[in-house]
Formats: sequence, structure tokens, C-alpha cells
Amino acid sequence: MDVRMLGQAEVLGTLGDVAHDRERHRRRRITHVAVVLGLVTTWFYWRLLSGNPARFGWPNVSLPEGFQDYLPGLILVLLLGSSLIIPLFVAGRSPHVQYRPSEIPVTFNDVVGLGMVRDEVVKTLNLFLAYKTFRDRMGGNPRKAILFEGPPGTGKTYMAKAMAREAGVPFLFVSASAFQSMYYGQTNRKIRSFFKKLRAAARREGGAIGFIEEIDAIAGARSGMRSSPMPDSLRHGGAALSVERSDSREGISGVVNELLIQMQSFDQPTAGARVKGALFDLVNRFLPEGHQFEKRPPVASNILVIGATNRAADLDPALLRPGRFDRSIHFDLPSRSGRREIIDYYLEKKAHVPELDKDERRDQLAAMTFAYSPVMIEHLFDEALVWSLRGGREAMEWDDVQQAKFTEEIGLKQPVEYTEDEKRTIATHEAGHAVVAYLNGIGRKLEVLSIIKRADALGLLAHSETEERFTRTRTELIASIQISFGGMTAEELFFGESGTGPGSDLAAATRIAAQMVGAYGMAGSLVSFEAIESSPVSQGIVGKVLADDEGRRAVDRLLDQAKEDVRKLLDENRHLVIALRDQLLVREELVGDEITDVLLQAAEAERFDRIERAGRG
Ligand SMILES: Nc1ncnc2c1ncn2[C@@H]1O[C@H](COP(=O)(O)OP(=O)(O)O)[C@@H](O)[C@H]1O
Ligand SMILES: [Mg+2]
Repeated sequence: MDVRMLGQAEVLGTLGDVAHDRERHRRRRITHVAVVLGLVTTWFYWRLLSGNPARFGWPNVSLPEGFQDYLPGLILVLLLGSSLIIPLFVAGRSPHVQYRPSEIPVTFNDVVGLGMVRDEVVKTLNLFLAYKTFRDRMGGNPRKAILFEGPPGTGKTYMAKAMAREAGVPFLFVSASAFQSMYYGQTNRKIRSFFKKLRAAARREGGAIGFIEEIDAIAGARSGMRSSPMPDSLRHGGAALSVERSDSREGISGVVNELLIQMQSFDQPTAGARVKGALFDLVNRFLPEGHQFEKRPPVASNILVIGATNRAADLDPALLRPGRFDRSIHFDLPSRSGRREIIDYYLEKKAHVPELDKDERRDQLAAMTFAYSPVMIEHLFDEALVWSLRGGREAMEWDDVQQAKFTEEIGLKQPVEYTEDEKRTIATHEAGHAVVAYLNGIGRKLEVLSIIKRADALGLLAHSETEERFTRTRTELIASIQISFGGMTAEELFFGESGTGPGSDLAAATRIAAQMVGAYGMAGSLVSFEAIESSPVSQGIVGKVLADDEGRRAVDRLLDQAKEDVRKLLDENRHLVIALRDQLLVREELVGDEITDVLLQAAEAERFDRIERAGRG
């Protein structure tokens, strides 16, 4: 095999060393069977020829008298005994499931939009399949274990399934929680037997892959094991406060240790080899030095262990060191082009009108699914199909997708009757948000403005980024705080006071302000509160900043300034707030361009008014 093929972008399949090994094993098995069958046949033939053919039958055993009387009692005792003993054996069994490749419908072509991740996985798989070439000709150590980490729904399990299908070796799926058992010590036993099964499968087939789903369930950090080299006492500013994680299970440390040990024991000798070794040892004791039998070193089984988790930070650091799960593959939320691929892939399968085949629509879909994971995109289309069914249609339309997105993100509409006053307050409040977002929100697109109750929001303004970005400027953050204050300030301007409505707005504004003060150095001080690893008061950045007098004052100043600016802005643009409020009272919900249309018209009308007034005055 050409060494360079190891780096190719396709799976090696039957070209790899593993396939080679498997073929060798198959031939050897056939030879074994042929030899045994041949011997047996020869024996029968010999008996036949020598005039004494072999006969079969039951052995002549006679049961004692009165046996039938004891039989029921005996069976009862046996049943009871086995019901006590069998669970003990079963509990220590490996909980894995092994599928045949033909049972798995997912191929690498179904895993779309992952870009580099897919390449990395194929490379790892190829290294595994061509382990001998890699080891013998290049002197490399094949990877023993890799970690799939990333947020839920990003395709870790899905990718593993595709690997199982394409690898062509036994693939043992197990979910880490299945290792847990009610019997003490049984968890370790299950882990041992899982690895034993892996080794056996690898010996039989030239290689085996084990996949441990949600590995954090058994591989959480042992107490006292931290990735940070700093002693505890330093970390809490001298206070001797140490937070211990208490585990009610059989002690996570034993389990992690077991996992560590098993990861190092791919070269454990088989039972047969051990018996042979013991025999050699026995005989060697009688033999002079230099004439003894030599024991061959055990061959390491070709095993790849894949762990999947969405809480990689919680894993025990020892597990991530070289030789263990030393390679992490990060499954990120898909980028815009990744989402486009995923959208194309799923729309291919789901009924939709031709309009959704247009390039602009697809791009628009990719843009509006920012921060969606693949599973969320799939779910969005399923919901859109439900909406189209509701409308009596057989294929989804653009509107269905949009409806589905709104319901997904902001919840189902709940028909409640507000009192007239309440409705007016809510409309003013939402109009206030929208006007600030329209005037000051840089790069924000107004999506929905509504006074229909959804989940716990009485009304809402949904706005989104016009472009996909990963950083924010100070101006943008200030604008976000101002948008939050829009509702409260509008209420104050029009009714003289605000009610309980703005509660959640204030929380949002405080959160952003605290981050500006304590994390981004945007409010005068460059001290980062993120550097405090944990404080007795709170873990979060907001808690750390607010617990500090100076930090709290800085937050206060930011918020007051933002509020003051918003008050001026809305005072100058009362006409916009009024126009939106009135439209909301009539239509209850404005979507997309409807909002900007109202605002543009109102601005136009105001301009005429002003000219007229100037003309008269
Ligand atoms: N890259 C992808 N391409 C297509 N579908 C995907 C992709 N990633 C995830 N999915 C869909 O999302 C579902 C859930 O993904 P899963 O692998 O279970 O997520 P997790 O990362 O939490 O293990 C999959 O069954 C599949 O339908
Ligand atoms: Mg999963």
C-alpha cells in the first residue's frame, strides 16, 4: 500500500491493513475448520473400515427410585438459586450494542456541512485502517482514542454511525450511563468487559472501534484533579475555601481509574496466551538457562475508542493526556456555508414548493438559521411541514418556514384578552423598543413586533443581525442596552411611570453592562473579573462584578447614561412611537418590512408637518 494514501480524503475500505488482516484471519479459520473436520472424518472412516463403526445414543443413566416426588422441590430450589445468581453475572456484562454496517442507514455522504471535521474523521479512520503501514513504515503510533466534543445536536453520534458503516470493522456502541450499576464495583467490571469485548473483536477482525456516548457520565473529573496547576488556596485569594464535588455514586475516581487502565491495556494477553505462558514458566523451571522456551510479547489489539461529550471541560484531565483521548475533534455549530449545505441536504428530502429551490431563498434560510445546530435545522423543516399541513398544503412554503421559526424561537401564540389600558401600555412599551432598535441598532434587522402573549412574554420585539458576526463593538453593546431600555422609557414618557413590564429588560441590560465592565474592559477599568476563577458569592461574571463596589458603580453609570440617552431619543421621536403603537393596537403583530414601512411613513408625515408648521410660522 502506498503510504501517501493514508492522507487521502476518502475512506480506505478494503485497501487498508485491517481488511488484509481480516482476510488472513478468515483463511486461518477455514484452515482450522478443515483440519478438525478432516481429523473427525478420518476417525469415523477408520472405525468403519476396521469393522467397528461408531454408534450414537443416550448414556444409560438410571434415576433413583421415588425421584419424581422430589422433582418439583428441586426445580423450585434451582429456580430460586438462579434468580439470585444470574443477575450478578448479567450485571457485569458489557452493555454495548453492535450493529452490522448494513443496519446503519447513515453514510459519510449524509454527514454534511461539517467541513474540516469530516476530513479529520476520515483521516483518523484511515490511520486506524492502515495501522501497520503507519507503524512499520513511518514509525508512528496510531491514535488510540479520540474525543468528539461540541454542543448537542451537532452530529457527534451521527458521525459515529457513519463511521461504523464505512469502517468495515466491528463497531461497539455504548452509552456511558449504561455502565452504571446498582452493585458496588460492577461499573468497573462492565468497563472491563466492554474493553475485553473490544479486544476480542479486534483480534478476530483485525480491528474494532468502541464508541462511548456521553462519556462525561463516567469520566468526570476526580476530586483534586484540576487542569489548573494553581493550588486551591491561591485561587480563592488566600481564603481556605475549597469546593469539593460530592459524588453519591461508587466514587467516580475508581471508574476513571478503570477507564485509564483499560485504555493502556490494548496489549493484554488473551486467556489462551496466559495459559500457554504459565505452562512455559512451569517447564522453564526445569530447563537450563539458554535452552528455555521463549514467550512472545503480546500483540497490541488494533482498537480505536471514540468518546462523545458536550461537556469536555468536565472530563478528568488525566484522560486527555497523550496516549489517551489525546485528540479532540470539536463539532462546532455550522457556519453559514455549512448551514447552506445542511439546508440543501434536508430540503432534498422534504416536500417544498419550487420557490424554495431559488438560490436567494436558500441563502436567506442559511442566514436566518444563525447559531442553529444541524438537528435544529432539520427540526425547523419538520415544523414547517406541520404548518403547511395545517394550511391544507402538501409542500412547505416560505411562509411556513417563517412561521415555524417564530414558533420555535419565541413560542406559540396564547390568546389572552388584555384590558384596554394594559394593551395600550404593552403596545407603547414594544413600540419604544422597536424605535430605539430602528434608530440606534447598528446592523440590526427588525423581525417581529407583537403584542400577542407568547410563553412568558406579553409582547415582544425580535430583531436579528443583518450579517453573521462573531464580535461586537462597544457601540453595539451600548445600543443593545439602549434597546432594552426603550420599553421602560416609552412607558415613562407616555404614562409618567412604568410598570412591572420592564423587569426582564433590566436584567438583560444589567447582564450586558456587567460584561462590558468586568470582561471586556469597556468601562474605564481594564481589570477582568473573569480572572477570578470562582468566588464565594457567585460563579458568573454578573455576580462577580456586582459583588464588587467599584464594579457595581461602573455598571450603574453605564445603565444611567444609556437610559438618559434613550429618553432624549424617544422624546425627539415621539411620532414614531405613536405610529407604531397605533398600528400595533390595530394589527397586534407586525412582521419584517411591515415594521419599517410604518416607521418610514411616520417619518415622512412628520417631515411634511414640520415644513407646514415652518411655512405657517
Ligand atoms: N452534519 C449533519 N448533517 C446532517 N444531519 C445532521 C448533521 N448533524 C446532525 N444531524 C442530524 O441531527 C441529529 C442529531 O445529531 P446527533 O449526532 O445525535 O447529535 P449529538 O452531537 O448530540 O450526538 C442526527 O440524527 C441527524 O439527523
Ligand atoms: Mg449524541
